[in-house]
Amino acid sequence: MSTPLSRRDALRLGLLGAGAVVVGGVGLGAVGGGPFTADRGGPLVPTGSRFTEPAHLRSQDGFLRVRLEPAWAEVDLGGRRARLLAYDGQVPGPTWRVRPGDRIELTLANRLDAPTNIHVHGLHVSPEGKGDNVFRRVDPAEDADYVFQLPADHPPGLFWYHPHVHGSVADQVFAGLYGAIVVEDDLEVDADRVLVLSDLSLDARGRVRPGAAQDRMAGREGEILLVNGRRRPLLRATAGRAERWRVLNACTSRYLDLELPGQEVTLLGLDGGRLPPRRVERALLPPGARADLLVGTTSGRTQLRTAGYDRGSGMTGMMGGDDVSGPAALADLEVSGVDRPSAAMPPAPPVDDLTGVTPDARRDIAFTMGMGRGGMTFGFDGREFAADRTDQQLRAGTVQEWRISNPTPLDHPFHLHVWPMQVIDDGGGRPEAPQWRDVVNVPSGGAVTVRFRADIPGRTVYHCHILDHEDAGMMGVVEAS
Ligand code: C2O
Ligand code: CU
Repeated sequence: MSTPLSRRDALRLGLLGAGAVVVGGVGLGAVGGGPFTADRGGPLVPTGSRFTEPAHLRSQDGFLRVRLEPAWAEVDLGGRRARLLAYDGQVPGPTWRVRPGDRIELTLANRLDAPTNIHVHGLHVSPEGKGDNVFRRVDPAEDADYVFQLPADHPPGLFWYHPHVHGSVADQVFAGLYGAIVVEDDLEVDADRVLVLSDLSLDARGRVRPGAAQDRMAGREGEILLVNGRRRPLLRATAGRAERWRVLNACTSRYLDLELPGQEVTLLGLDGGRLPPRRVERALLPPGARADLLVGTTSGRTQLRTAGYDRGSGMTGMMGGDDVSGPAALADLEVSGVDRPSAAMPPAPPVDDLTGVTPDARRDIAFTMGMGRGGMTFGFDGREFAADRTDQQLRAGTVQEWRISNPTPLDHPFHLHVWPMQVIDDGGGRPEAPQWRDVVNVPSGGAVTVRFRADIPGRTVYHCHILDHEDAGMMGVVEAS
C-alpha cells in the first residue's frame, strides 16, 4: 500500500523546512515589535478593533434549544471585510452556556452548497443516532435535528462545536465554522470571558485561500490570527480583578503557546479537565485544545501572544517551511486602575484518577505517514480512515489503556471523541496531578499513554486534530458495545 515516510522524503516534499530561523532563541521579553508580528500581510501595529465576544445562548430549566444556520456570509474582521462560512452570520458562532445534566436540542439548517454536520468536541455524550454522530451527513438545504444529553456529573469547562464531514473538515473550520460551549460551574469571578482563537488566509478580495497542497500536507496555517473573529483586538480591563479567560484553539493546524506577560495567570484546567490551580507563564494548546485561565489583572499594557512552536521534525533550532507555528501577537490588553494584592488561589477541585486502576485492556496505536502511489498517505497503523471499518472494538464499561506512538516527522495532536482521556505518561513520565484531556499532543518520535473509561456505548472516532491530516485519512473508528 504505502511505505513509511523517510526524513529525505519529507525534506523533498518541503514538509521539513530547510530555512534557518531560530525558534528557541526568540526574545520573549520583547513587546510590540521584535519578532512578534500581527499577521503576515496584515498590520504590525494594533488594528484598533475592539475586543468583543460571541453572542451567547443560555440554557433554562435544564434545557437549551438552538437553531444553527451555517451559510456564506460577509463578515467584518475588524477593519477588513471577508467572505466566510458562518453560523448564523457570525464568526465564531454563538456560545452555548449550559450546566451538567442539561439537554441540548439543536436544529442544524444547512444553507451551504456542500454537506456538513456537527460535532460537539469534548462533550461526554452519546455518539449514536441524533447525538454526537459524525457519521451523519446533512445535505444542502436539509434541516437536521440533534440531541445532546449531558450526564449530571459532566465535567465543567470549555468545549466547542464544529463540522465533521470527513474530507471537508479543515476547509469548513478554516473558513469560519466553529463556536464555543461552556459547561458552567460555581466559581465566582469578576468577569467570565470566552476567547476563541483561530486563523485564516484571505486573498485581496477577502475570499478564503485554502493554501497549497503542500501546506495542507503539513497542516495549513492561516496568515491572519483572530480572537473572537477580530484581528488583534484591544481588551480593556480594570486592575485588581479576577478574570476567567476560557481560551480555545480553533485553528486548523496551528499550535499556540500562549503567554500574557506582566499578568498573574493561574491555570485552572485544560480541555474538560480540572487541575490543582497553579501559576503559569505559558500554556501550550495544540489545535482543538482549551485552557481555563484565571487572570489576576495588573495595571499596564501587554499582549496575549503565542511564543511559537516547532511542530516539525525535532530538527532543533531549525524552522521554516510550513511545520512551524510562528510567534505572533493575538490581542492587546490594557489594564488601568489601582493594583491590589493577588487573590487567594481557588481550591483544588476533586478529580477522578485512573492511575491506580488496572486497565481491562491495553492497545498500541501509531500515527502513520507514508508514500503511496497517489502521493503522501496519512493514517493510523498503516491504514487510512474507512467509515465502515471498525478499528478498535471495545467492551463498554471497561477501562482502556492506549499507548499512542508517533514515528512520523511531525507532531500530531491525538483527539478521542466521547471519552475523556487521563494522561498516564506524556512521554516524560506521569503528570504530577491527574490530567484529563481530549486532545493530547504526541511529539514526533514520541509516545503518550492514556487511560479512559469507555462508559458511554457507541461508535465514534479518534483522529489527528490537524484537520488537514484528519481529512487526508488520519482517523480511526472505535466502538464500545
Ligand atoms: Cu474537534 Cu473530531 O474533532
Ligand atoms: Cu497530524
